[in-house]
Amino acid sequence: MKTKIIQINSQRPDLKKIELAAKVIQKGGLVVFPTETVYGLGANVFNQPAVKKIFQVKKRPLDNPVIVHLASIKDLEKVAQKISFQSLKLAKKFWPGPLTLIFKKKKNIPSEVSGGLETVAVRVPKHKVALALIKKAKVPLAAPSANLAGRPSPTKVEHVIEDLEGKVEMILKAGPTKIGLESTVLDLSDKKPVILRPGGTSREKIEKEIGPVSIYQVTKKIKRVKSPGLKYRHYAPKAKLILIIGSLSKIVKKIQTMVRRYKKAGILASQETKKFYPSKLVLVVGARKNLRTVAKNLFATLRKFDEKGVKVIIAESFPQKEIGLAIMNRLKKAATKIIKV
Ligand code: TXA
Ligand code: MG
Repeated sequence: MKTKIIQINSQRPDLKKIELAAKVIQKGGLVVFPTETVYGLGANVFNQPAVKKIFQVKKRPLDNPVIVHLASIKDLEKVAQKISFQSLKLAKKFWPGPLTLIFKKKKNIPSEVSGGLETVAVRVPKHKVALALIKKAKVPLAAPSANLAGRPSPTKVEHVIEDLEGKVEMILKAGPTKIGLESTVLDLSDKKPVILRPGGTSREKIEKEIGPVSIYQVTKKIKRVKSPGLKYRHYAPKAKLILIIGSLSKIVKKIQTMVRRYKKAGILASQETKKFYPSKLVLVVGARKNLRTVAKNLFATLRKFDEKGVKVIIAESFPQKEIGLAIMNRLKKAATKIIKV
């Protein structure tokens, strides 16, 4: 298949281009579009064959459900039922934005969307192109991240092209995505709200609205996984990734001794610590004093190590506060080994 790649302005999206993309969706095709978190791979949520294609193209396991994207909170009733007061409060506060909420699904949602579950994950993205496309297509979009399953999510159109060119009808090409990590997935169906996947909306911000929230921990003992996406290795570069956890001074010392052993290892470092490593293969992911820069560059940096042909990446860890929780979640899932110092 020839993929149409169409450059589009993030601030003032050209309506003609949006119309073209909306037509593809209405005909049952797939369109990659930018959001504020990562690029998404969209299909008409009510079109079962189109949704099935998403799974084929991504090589995504069928039991891993996808997120439904709305243009506005007003459309929530089209896909969800039994909407609680608490979730409505959060939706009103954080939408459009990087928070995905889990609801009981409406019957008309194909089971592929929900990976066979009775629930559906929903969000309103904060990106003019995404919103214009959903509005014009006149249907909510089922859209996972636009990468091959298991790979780091695409934060730049080059990543999408690398993974999906020739497999989808259209790619809307805009600049790099602002946040760089996916939305926070929050489940409000139990007594205590649970973050199934930390992301762009911090736990601290959510707790300000609704009080204590717990973080879902996958342990090997749990057989039934609450969010099926949690059980697979994720966000992974081709290289092995060794994550070093501990106080910063110990992390630096450990990496300094490790590079003597792994001479060709790449080091994922921060602006503040770069100077401690003599290796040529140091990539700076961002600044510790502003963790949002780390979030924004993380996936692109992992892909960059692969481009350089690095076989082993030794990665520093980051404080787990605010967006740092999501950063560490992705690094742990990408890691083949974690060393505590
Ligand atoms: O920021 C984002 O969320 C991006 C952009 C494109 O919106 N999308 C994204 O989708 O990251 P995806 O498919 O890569 O991740 C969806 C996550 C998975 O961990 C999946 O298991 C979980 O949401 N999920 C989806 N539906 C669910 C459900 N009904 N119950 C529990 N978890 C669900
Ligand atoms: Mg994904």
